[in-house]
Amino acid sequence: MNKKIYKILKTKNKKKLVCLTAYSKPIAKILDKYCDIVLVGDSLATAMYGMKNTHSVTLDTMIQHGISVASSTSKSLCIIDMPANSYKDKKMAIRNAKLILKKTKCDAVKIESNGKNYDVISSIVKSGIPVMGHIGFTPQHYKKFKAQGLDQKSRIKLLQEAKKIEKTGVFSLVLECMSETLAKEITKLIKIPTIGIGASNYCDGQILVTDDMLGLSGFYPKFVKKFVNLNKIIEKGVQKYRTSVLNKKFPAKKNTF
Ligand code: KIV
Repeated sequence: MNKKIYKILKTKNKKKLVCLTAYSKPIAKILDKYCDIVLVGDSLATAMYGMKNTHSVTLDTMIQHGISVASSTSKSLCIIDMPANSYKDKKMAIRNAKLILKKTKCDAVKIESNGKNYDVISSIVKSGIPVMGHIGFTPQHYKKFKAQGLDQKSRIKLLQEAKKIEKTGVFSLVLECMSETLAKEITKLIKIPTIGIGASNYCDGQILVTDDMLGLSGFYPKFVKKFVNLNKIIEKGVQKYRTSVLNKKFPAKKNTF
C-alpha cells in the first residue's frame, strides 16, 4: 500500500486530518507544508472558470491542473477528482483513472457517489488505484445546493450508502453538507477516515475549497469561514500599482535597465 495512504488510514480516532483544494502550483506549494491531503477538486469549474456547476468540466482540464498541483506536492497526499462523465461504466472508469494518475502523478482519485455506482468504484479499487469516496451533497449529481440527511429517510439512505462505499475498498470518504448527528454516526460506523465539508466537527478530517476560505471566490455559504480576505488585499495592491503607474512612480530607476 502507498505509504501516504497508510499514514492517512492510521490517523482514524487519533489525529484530525487537515485538507484543502489546490488548482495550481504556487498554492499547492504552500498547502503541502500544512495539509495532510491536497485535492485537485473539480470545484475549479466554478471557482476558476466561472461555470455554473461542475457538470461539464473535462478530463483534459482536470489533468492540466493535476500536473501543476502534483508537481508541487511531496509531503501531502495529492488526490484528484474524476470529472462527471469520466466514469460512466467500469471500463471507462478504469481507463480514465489510470490515465489521470499516469499523466498527473497524483496519488489517488476521488469519485462522487450517485447512490448506484458502487461497482464502478470497486472496479477502480480492484485495478490497484486508491480511491476516495464522496457522499452527501455530491455537486456532480445535483442541480441545486441542498443539505442532506435532515430527515429520517435520507439519514438511513446515507448511512447505508456510507457502509456500501466502505465495502468497495475506498480509503476515505468525504461527507459533504449533512447534519451533525449524521456525520457523527457515519464517522463512528465506518473504519476509514471521514473528511467533512459542511459536515460538523465530528468528522476525522476537514476540507474546504481554498479559494472560499481565503476570501477569493465570493462563495461564502454557512459552512465556509473566511480565514483571510484576499480579495481586499489584492485590490489594495492593484490600486497601489495603478496609482504608481499613473503618477509615473513605477517603473522607478531601480526597476529599469
Ligand atoms: O471539488 C471539490 O473541491 C470537492 C471538495 C469540496 C470536497 O469535491
